[in-house]
Amino acid sequence: MTDRELYERAVEVSRRAYAPYSNYLVGAAVLARDGRVFEGVNVENAAYPLGVCAEKSALARGVADGVGPGDVESVAITASPCGGCRQWLHEFRVDRVTFMHEGELLTRTVDELLPDTWDL
Ligand code: THU
Repeated sequence: MTDRELYERAVEVSRRAYAPYSNYLVGAAVLARDGRVFEGVNVENAAYPLGVCAEKSALARGVADGVGPGDVESVAITASPCGGCRQWLHEFRVDRVTFMHEGELLTRTVDELLPDTWDL
């Protein structure tokens, strides 16, 4: 699967986001090295800080099915990943991240998105 095809999966699933407060629908698709794809959406809550981002929910679905750090080849997101999600992408040592930014589809390494990372 190409990064563009993965991005199209993210666009498709974004329609199912639960974002009644921001009306900002985000979709994400995670490609595991074994070829499995895990999709996620942002899920908001009336208590605003409790909402979860699309890429975190996609990664969490992968983890529930056995995906761990080093198992993810590529992640596609319909928005530029927020700072916290960049730390999640770093945690899982994702190879490539593809996302729409100002009308342009970009592919970056996590090192480019989050340089000089903090590690425990
Ligand atoms: N959002 C994501 O799902 N991913 C990001 O990386 C950026 C922000 C969501 C969170 C919230 O539901 C909505 O976008 C508006 O901030």
